[in-house]
Amino acid sequence: MSITAKGPLPGAVFGATVKIEGGASEVVATAERDPGALPAALAEAKGLLLIQGMNAIAKEPDLLIRLSRTFGAEVEDYRHNLTNLSSVHTEVPEILLVSNMPPVGKAPPKRPEPPLAADGLIPTQYPHRMGWHTDQSYRRPPPDISLFYAVTPARRDTGQTLFANGILAYAALPAALRAKVDTLEGLHAQPGSGRSRDAALAGRKPRDFALHERSQRQPVVRTHPVTGERSLYLCEWGQMDWFEGPFVDMEPGPHGAGAALLDEIMAHLTARRFCYAHEWTEGDLLIWDNRCLVHAATWFDGDKEGRLMWRTTVHGNPGAAYAGEAKSWLPRP
Ligand SMILES: [Fe+2]
Repeated sequence: MSITAKGPLPGAVFGATVKIEGGASEVVATAERDPGALPAALAEAKGLLLIQGMNAIAKEPDLLIRLSRTFGAEVEDYRHNLTNLSSVHTEVPEILLVSNMPPVGKAPPKRPEPPLAADGLIPTQYPHRMGWHTDQSYRRPPPDISLFYAVTPARRDTGQTLFANGILAYAALPAALRAKVDTLEGLHAQPGSGRSRDAALAGRKPRDFALHERSQRQPVVRTHPVTGERSLYLCEWGQMDWFEGPFVDMEPGPHGAGAALLDEIMAHLTARRFCYAHEWTEGDLLIWDNRCLVHAATWFDGDKEGRLMWRTTVHGNPGAAYAGEAKSWLPRP
């Protein structure tokens, strides 16, 4: 059996659909026999792969963990990476539950206003679209790859996952903007920790963080450790530190020069030409590279529907900028 990847994904200029014969257990066995194949396909597709028909994972979650292991040294245990335990699978702690249902109970994002962009499609571009982030950038070293599996997706045309490609967006940056960001560092904060732009705008005083919870610096331009490609690496309202950041050594706060620059970069990064919108079908598995993509969730009707997705993250090859660093999120004795 062989692994083939065909790109790009519909409506986008990056990403690929992976075809492997059989159901999830055959897919995982094939990937394990040729452990370099899927990571190579992921790099070739500039950071996004879709595998469909993986429905057997719902009853056999270990298949998702085994597949995750082919992407790197460490499949993270969510009990030890600043995650609220109500969002962790009770038997498989490498699985994060993303759901509006109990015990997670996370409401879907708001619908953008207006709901459609001028081109008639759902909006991608910030700030019309909000919620863009790369997973867990508030940790150093940050995770590499996320795998996201649809146990019960929202109904068609809602609850999509949007991706913007930082490699393509970086290559298309106007020279003046590129010169500004090349050596810049962002200051990333955990969502819900009280350091968001909303909190800063409301004048709320942030609580003190323990050392292991502190906001973390990340380069705004990362060099991919596998391909050498440079890409934008940045979040926005909910996952940057809007009290001391969003950028290091720039005027801080929600009205400062740093805020203006962030708004300019995010609007560029999330332009339609750099984006893909995934419409979920039960059994879909998406694999994305957090080192070079940002993503955002979209609205679904959480009053009428229960959505359940499973995520794993893989950690271990963040690149030379993080060489030899201890994990920032582990409390020191
Ligand atoms: Fe995410």
